[in-house]
Amino acid sequence: MSIENQFTKYAKDYDNNNIIQRIVSKALVREITDEPKRILELGCGSGQIFREITWEFDSYKAIDFSHTMCEIHPKAPNLVVKCFDFDSSSFKDEIENDTYDLIISSSALQWSKNISKLLENLLPKTKNFKAVLFTSNTFKEIYEITKKEKSILSQEEIKEAFVPYKALFEVFDYKLFFESKKELFDYIKNSGVSGENKLDFKEAKHLYKNYHLNYLTFEVIFITI
Ligand SMILES: C[S@@+](CC[C@H](N)C(=O)[O-])C[C@H]1O[C@@H](n2cnc3c(N)ncnc32)[C@H](O)[C@@H]1O
Repeated sequence: MSIENQFTKYAKDYDNNNIIQRIVSKALVREITDEPKRILELGCGSGQIFREITWEFDSYKAIDFSHTMCEIHPKAPNLVVKCFDFDSSSFKDEIENDTYDLIISSSALQWSKNISKLLENLLPKTKNFKAVLFTSNTFKEIYEITKKEKSILSQEEIKEAFVPYKALFEVFDYKLFFESKKELFDYIKNSGVSGENKLDFKEAKHLYKNYHLNYLTFEVIFITI
């Protein structure tokens, strides 16, 4: 299943299965001290970032490629929610004449198909960029069992893409504990962090049998320019 379809399918459950996304989006917004007036957000989902914005802004453009997420996102004066793939040329055209006081993104850019290109399009449009991305070390114990190729960017790939921009990085690891295996596996399915590499029935059964931990691990990287 593509990332887009996966988010559309689980959009309604997303708000109950996104503890880590909520923690990191709050942390990201807490770092903003200057009340930016023109804001662009990439991969806005159901509005975690938007809900944390407490000051008045002149314009807020929130982008997501899942129509369902765009529908769920809160609505407000001066806010536009638009359905675009941030890797697409139509998105590049969409922002061509814009400049922003802040470009922000939480838990979304790890799926970029060409993050260097995306940054080339974005960064001339702002002096302030803040993002948090999951890295491919997320669910690493799961991947050790499934041997599946990881579908999100690694910490090294992310850092490499930001080399030209003198970015600051902070990496954090989180562990999320579960009372039962079922809860743990439901979380993976509904949280939207697992990516495109779905398991077939046999592979899923093998994983369920061999995953003996009562927690999941997540690695996130905060980036500030
Ligand atoms: C894990 S959710 C995070 C949502 C929200 N930012 C949050 O912090 O809860 C990732 C979001 O990024 C969106 N997304 C992923 N790849 C995208 C792309 N190439 N273009 C636009 N949106 C994308 C997904 O549809 C999803 O809503």
